[in-house]
Amino acid sequence: MDGDVRINPYLAGNFAPVRSEDDFDLEVVGEIPAGLRGALFRIGPNPQFEPRDPNHHWFVGDGMVHGFYLDGGKASYRNRYVRTPKWQVEHEAGRSLFAGFNPLLGDPSVAGKDAGVANTNIVWHAGRLLALEEGHKPFEMNPRDLGSKGYVEAYQGRVTAHPKIDPATGEMIWFGYGVGEMPLSAGMSYGVTAADGSVVRRQDFQAPYSSMVHDFMVTENHVLFPVLPLTGSLERAMTGRPPYAWEPEKGSFVGVMRRDADVSTIRWFNTEACYVFHPLNAWEDSDKLVADVMRYDTAPLFPNADGSPGAKSAARLVRWTFDLAGDSDAIKEEPLDDLDGEFPRVDPRVETRRHRHGWYAADPAHAQTIRQSAIAHLDLQTGKRQVYALGGGDQTSEPVFVPRSADAPEGDGWITAVVWRAAEDRSDLLVFEALDIEKGPIATAKVPRRVPFGFHGNWASF
Ligand SMILES: [Fe+2]
Repeated sequence: MDGDVRINPYLAGNFAPVRSEDDFDLEVVGEIPAGLRGALFRIGPNPQFEPRDPNHHWFVGDGMVHGFYLDGGKASYRNRYVRTPKWQVEHEAGRSLFAGFNPLLGDPSVAGKDAGVANTNIVWHAGRLLALEEGHKPFEMNPRDLGSKGYVEAYQGRVTAHPKIDPATGEMIWFGYGVGEMPLSAGMSYGVTAADGSVVRRQDFQAPYSSMVHDFMVTENHVLFPVLPLTGSLERAMTGRPPYAWEPEKGSFVGVMRRDADVSTIRWFNTEACYVFHPLNAWEDSDKLVADVMRYDTAPLFPNADGSPGAKSAARLVRWTFDLAGDSDAIKEEPLDDLDGEFPRVDPRVETRRHRHGWYAADPAHAQTIRQSAIAHLDLQTGKRQVYALGGGDQTSEPVFVPRSADAPEGDGWITAVVWRAAEDRSDLLVFEALDIEKGPIATAKVPRRVPFGFHGNWASF
């Protein structure tokens, strides 16, 4: 490349999209346990065409689903685009038309049209495979052939990519942000989908300010909405400044309410400016709520409000405690771990309940690039941490837990992770014993090409 051409980092290396939709039988090294039957679905951005925005952001590429199907010790792989309305209109045009984050850069022919990319998370709920992206409705996919089915209209509006599924009730609890007539507004929604897949609640409220609310926390009886100072501003966007930016002077708020209460009862707790993309989990301890979250000092990947580059920052696991019986609205914070990490996950059977085990993609080199070179397991009962370092410049995706059986104890099962092999520019699916990460993978399923860095995934047995 010419020295004066700036390569967008999200179009280079293993961030760059793959252009083919493939079906591969995978070579397996080691042994995939016979009990590990089902599919790991992963999703991430994969722009269909060259983006219009020279400052193209990782978060706005078209969603592509990568399915790893395991059965009888064998593994196969399939990837397909999520054929959203945006994908279809651009496919017909043969080029990018939508603007990404910057509303000034779109082609006039798509002004006001649905720009959903369904690229952030893929969840299995009520017999449906849902591709999620926080600005739009869930988009249903066929779990077997990864064919696109379309938006689930019952949701009516924006839905987080990080809903929580209550393992006792089967309900899916969710929220939306930026809800309202105007883009980048402070409006939020709280919603519930019943175990049978019907949307049974959606209620709107106002946050203290407009924020990118990427994820939230749910406990057995409560819901917690983090409003942290990665702010949204239409005024900024319309004057050529960043639509989303780090504005620490706004402080951090977390709204707490009972799951069965009206949104008018939300109590806003507060703490110093920080950012959290992903909590590990949250639970109740009598009249206290406890949330373990991956906390950054400053929001990574986004500029300051004046457009200057944001500071580099790493996330580490901290414990937030909310005293519902106390007079103070201050959040108590204590460190849980001293290793940089992202994409924390629990055994889904303890989501919303007290957890003992957590896994995350770790960055022992403190590279602060959202590119993690190790997988970590943290036992919060013993305080013992296990780390498996990949080496060789290899990078891992989020580790996803699969229980050994429905009634196995918490943590008894496997960790699956998709890893990019830097030297070969190719990817592998790794399977670990979840409580013995240090041992290294017990099975490796080799993909003949790379799987681009993505966001989230989940296991489904169907
Ligand atoms: Fe996320």
